[in-house]
Amino acid sequence: MKLKVSHILALTLLLAAPSIQAQHTIPEVEALLKKMTIEEKIGQLNLVTPGGGIATGSVVSSNVEDKIKAGQVGGLFGISGPEKIKTAQDFAVKKTRLGIPLFFGSDIIHGYKTTFPIPLGLSSSWDMELLKRTAQVAALEATADGINWNFSPMVDISRDPRWGRISEGAGEDPYLGSQIAKAMVTGYQGEDLMAKNTMLATVKHFALYGAAEAGRDYNSVDMSRLKMYNEYLPPYKAAIDAGVGSVMSSFNDIDGIPASGNKWLLTDLLRDDWKFNGFVVSDYTSVNEMIAHGLGDLQAVSALSLKAGLDMDMVGEGFLTTLKKSLDEGKVTAEEITTACRRILEAKFKLGLFDDPYKYIDKKRPAKDILKDENRALAREAAKKSFVLLKNDTKNLPINKSSKIALIGDLANSKDNMLGTWAPTGDPQLSVSILQGFKNVAPNAQITHAKGANITDDAALAKKINVFGERVTIDKRSAEEMLNEAVELAKKSDIIVAVVGEATEFTGESSSRTDISIPQSQKKLIRALAATGKPLVLVLMSGRPLVLEEELALSASILQVWFPGVEAGNAIADVVFGDYNPSGKLTATWPRNVGQIPIYHSIKNTGRPQLTSEFEKFTSNYLDAPNTPLLPFGYGLSYTEFEYSNLNVNASQINQNEPLIVTVSVTNTGNFDGEEVVQLYLRDVVRSITQPVKQLKGFKKVMLKKGETKQVTLTLTPDDLKFYNSNLDFVAEPGDFEIYVGTNSDATLKSSFTLK
Ligand code: NOJ
Repeated sequence: MKLKVSHILALTLLLAAPSIQAQHTIPEVEALLKKMTIEEKIGQLNLVTPGGGIATGSVVSSNVEDKIKAGQVGGLFGISGPEKIKTAQDFAVKKTRLGIPLFFGSDIIHGYKTTFPIPLGLSSSWDMELLKRTAQVAALEATADGINWNFSPMVDISRDPRWGRISEGAGEDPYLGSQIAKAMVTGYQGEDLMAKNTMLATVKHFALYGAAEAGRDYNSVDMSRLKMYNEYLPPYKAAIDAGVGSVMSSFNDIDGIPASGNKWLLTDLLRDDWKFNGFVVSDYTSVNEMIAHGLGDLQAVSALSLKAGLDMDMVGEGFLTTLKKSLDEGKVTAEEITTACRRILEAKFKLGLFDDPYKYIDKKRPAKDILKDENRALAREAAKKSFVLLKNDTKNLPINKSSKIALIGDLANSKDNMLGTWAPTGDPQLSVSILQGFKNVAPNAQITHAKGANITDDAALAKKINVFGERVTIDKRSAEEMLNEAVELAKKSDIIVAVVGEATEFTGESSSRTDISIPQSQKKLIRALAATGKPLVLVLMSGRPLVLEEELALSASILQVWFPGVEAGNAIADVVFGDYNPSGKLTATWPRNVGQIPIYHSIKNTGRPQLTSEFEKFTSNYLDAPNTPLLPFGYGLSYTEFEYSNLNVNASQINQNEPLIVTVSVTNTGNFDGEEVVQLYLRDVVRSITQPVKQLKGFKKVMLKKGETKQVTLTLTPDDLKFYNSNLDFVAEPGDFEIYVGTNSDATLKSSFTLK
């Protein structure tokens, strides 16, 4: 065979390629890089915000227009809408020497204008297709408003409900968290990043941000490599494997080095091991914050970050103001600056911005794509699927649509508290209050409403909560007057529905709590309502697991609704009145008290496990509380009942690299059609390192008509049996395994097999 000239050229190029990175180079980007001055390259590494969205730090950028025109900006966030974005893009494309287009970023965490439930709520649906659809709609709406880069998904594992940002993630479990990371990335980015309705996603906060000590935001993280690899890193890796375009570094330190300047994290792990070839952006001023961490002055920490593998500096402008000096002084190299710039330009290229910098700018799109009926319908579906029925012993739910209902609580008639934290692009006034939703869904019900209590009586706390808007109002009336009014209505009703819990911004960034119970003002209200003897249903709102022992005892039924988003009231009414049978399951364990934290299902046995619920001296336990949580991971009831039987595996012995097929029969034995999340937990009986008692390794959400039985199949892949051993090799060790299948992580239906 004769080689053509083009073949020879390609071969020469291939042999000359100095690194993996070089093999991925894009000719157009390389050509552009050749034309750029070092100042222009540094400009691309600068991300600014005029502070139009939610500024999450004390610094906002100044002179944004001048900086763009001077070629000192690579991307902008906090602005939206075709007109504003076009103006800013014009500054970059028409007024700078090389006309390099800008990224337009945003925090679209749970929907753009159509706000979906908070992520912890969405995760409770255990419905990956649904999650993906919410991400697709978020991308559709955001791109209609000119945005092409999203700071989502947030995949930080958290096992500490004190941490306010547990609301923003998928809870405690790495297996579920990884599936969700993948669903969100593929939802935002779609099949084709060049399309006009998809956007670049960012996995954040890399890494381990959810393990902040004592649940205090931005706090230090200290963790063994084994724990990182086995329990905290998998969701980030799943996002990388799904092709996420960018990574955001976290605020915390890891092994003593803040993530934004941590070379092991940003280069050795992320690029060399995981083969990530997108770009890394810092969190808001996280480079500058390394000064407070004690790692040097702005020039030193900026150089450290660049050398560690950070490509873009969010808001702090340490890169913009010091990198040239560091280059002149030999503290960074021109190649390091070029590499960071290349990664940013490549992402812009992949988005198609060089073909058409205005591709997301279409004045007709906002009206066509944003908040359209089908988007709101998806928000309603997502919300009702995110709710978790925590108690319903006396079957007071669902409520008959012609009942006399006392609907009590400040949260029952609030629009301000329906969206939840991190919904800066949403408009709370577009949301459906619960009172309105009840009227919409049950027009024949006799509904009376009273506030009953302030969300909190603590004025100092209310002030901190109200930083982004009036979430908590302290009534002029006395607590007693409000309480009496509610009790009078309750006495005249058939059933009480009290909407209680946290206001929006009780969770979220910089919203950690040491006391995670319902505020005292509402606790008093719940006690008074329970004392009327009328059946008491609690609709519970929160962005975290709560300590709830007293309320579980006092109420007949509890429906956990998180913060449901723009269709809140309608979705809650759908479930309360039985148009939808709840199917959500908890994705984070609910503790009995704060002293049990951190608490999660995949705990280790210890050498001295307490085997029964009885206190036994010299075993691993507490004097003043059981080891078991209040509500386990995976827990959630339905209006119907499900029975599990016939758990089988297709082989009692399997070889390495062979899958195992698990089947189980699930029967709907109750009186409603309903969905069940069938969960599979694995126990590796003997390992070379201590192992969790059980770990989630599979789940399937199935619909069963009343009386129906289905055989559900779950497949354990060879990777599901693997873990990182003490050499950090990902291996499966031969020996016995046990599997447990059931309705939550306390599942006892058991089978076993041996890995050869
Ligand atoms: C700080 C937050 O930690 C991060 O999640 C967010 O994307 C940035 N601010 C930008 O708003």
